[in-house]
Amino acid sequence: MDSSLISILAAVLLSAMTVFLHNKMKKTRTEANSFKTRPVLPHGSLGWPLLGETMDFISCAYSDYPESFVDRRRRRYGKVFKSHIFGNPTIVSTDAEVSRFILQSDAKVFVPSYPKSLTELMGKSSILLINGGLQRRIHGLVGSFFKSSQLKAQITTDMNKYSQQAMNGWEDDGFPIFIQDEVKNIAFQVLVKALIGLDPGEEMEFLKRQFKEFISGLMSLPINLPGSKLHRSLKAKREMVKLVKRIIQDRRINSIPAAPNDALDVLLGDTSGLLSDDLISGNMIDMMIPGEDSVPILITLAIKYLSDSPLVLYKLTEENMRLRRLKAELEEPISWSDYLSSPFTQMVITEALRMGNIIVGVMRRAMKDVEIKGYLIPKGWCVFAYFRSVHLDETTYAKPYEFNPWRWQDREISSCNFTPFGGGQRLCPGLDLARLEASIFLHHFVTQFRWVAEDDSVVHFPTIDSASSCESLALRISLTLYRFRRKISTVAKSASKYTAAGSAQWQAEIVFLVILLMTGEGIPQKAP
Ligand code: HEM
Repeated sequence: MDSSLISILAAVLLSAMTVFLHNKMKKTRTEANSFKTRPVLPHGSLGWPLLGETMDFISCAYSDYPESFVDRRRRRYGKVFKSHIFGNPTIVSTDAEVSRFILQSDAKVFVPSYPKSLTELMGKSSILLINGGLQRRIHGLVGSFFKSSQLKAQITTDMNKYSQQAMNGWEDDGFPIFIQDEVKNIAFQVLVKALIGLDPGEEMEFLKRQFKEFISGLMSLPINLPGSKLHRSLKAKREMVKLVKRIIQDRRINSIPAAPNDALDVLLGDTSGLLSDDLISGNMIDMMIPGEDSVPILITLAIKYLSDSPLVLYKLTEENMRLRRLKAELEEPISWSDYLSSPFTQMVITEALRMGNIIVGVMRRAMKDVEIKGYLIPKGWCVFAYFRSVHLDETTYAKPYEFNPWRWQDREISSCNFTPFGGGQRLCPGLDLARLEASIFLHHFVTQFRWVAEDDSVVHFPTIDSASSCESLALRISLTLYRFRRKISTVAKSASKYTAAGSAQWQAEIVFLVILLMTGEGIPQKAP
């Protein structure tokens, strides 16, 4: 073999070896990297067999400091940790970015997760449970109607009328006014009118009674036997659905108007062929669930915070008195856009939403193994995006427990650090309605009354009001009212104080635990 051939062969061999070695090294590096970045199950504890950490979660939720369950673990394990609550292994996220990812994900990744009693009462085609195209369709139709100026004008008229009617009946006779109950009554009438066009009267009273029965079963033992809470609740829902179907029939006879007057018209006018009468009537009732209690809680909490913050109350009253005088001079009614563009009023509502955490977070179930920021959420596990911790995080909000509407002066409200209405495809469609109703009630309230708030307590658990939350707020403020007609010279005197909830809580806890562990969602799952 001549020397040139040998050199060629040597060169070929050398380059082959170089390529082989290079590939080998690359593979090893990739494997090493992939090992380094392989998502890991977050740290944390799954607690006791069967019970997991549910007892601790519930006892913290009942306390004055409901976020203590999460805060303790967050300090020990980090912002994202694993736990076992409500019978499910659960990843709890207090990380704004992780929670945003959860909210933005579609049904291929996460689906809503609720206790079984709730899913049974809502039915399979409820907007709160369905996923994919149908959910987007209903959400889109109802959401854009709720944003329309026509509906906002109607809500303004109704809210003004019912608020003023209620307030006209309040006397300074030493008896307290229970704000949450008062607002509940008003907000229900406004909501029902917006959804199915019903005015106050016999049918409205019937609906109120049935709805009360219906929601009492949302957090009940999932046993559907005659006499059980769930049974009565399902019966109440059937009665309500019957009423809505009657209204649907009437509309069909009289033809559906081209410009919808309520959400029912919107869904009846849909031409996709996807929405049956059963689906529409069931959803009209289901939409009352997130809408019914949340607005009264928001307004009640705002008044509670105002009672404790004289300077904020003074500024709010000043802004609303100014608006009232201006409109009186112009001989114009106050419009929805006047309310929604009153800057201080909106900052007060935003701050009440941040501090109040009406919906503490949302629960989802992973449809596949999911990786977020290096964490693994295994398929079948629940994930709890806990907004409350983000809203009360001192690194984002200085002095987070201080009611300070001015913090919103130069701050973006559409960030992942502020999600009282959720986000993504399930962003609350009632967001504008809630703000508008709160602005109107507060306007009437602060421009006509001074008050003393009595001692009262905030109960944070369990919830019946929303879908996605694991806590609720039952707060009643009783007020002694001093009606004034002249300009205010003094600000409200506060006598309010939060106290821990009462002794019946432990009984409720045990009952609730049984409920959760008996539900389908509550069947414990093995950690991988
Ligand atoms: C202060 C008041 C309110 C708060 C804090 C609130 C909060 C929320 C949150 C956090 C969600 C997201 C749930 C999830 O991602 O699973 C939601 C969904 C929803 N809210 Fe609200 N809400 C309020 C008022 C209302 C009102 C007045 C209505 C009127 C009907 C309403 C109707 C709905 C509906 C239908 C959904 C489900 C949307 C879907 O899954 O497509 N909410 N709400």
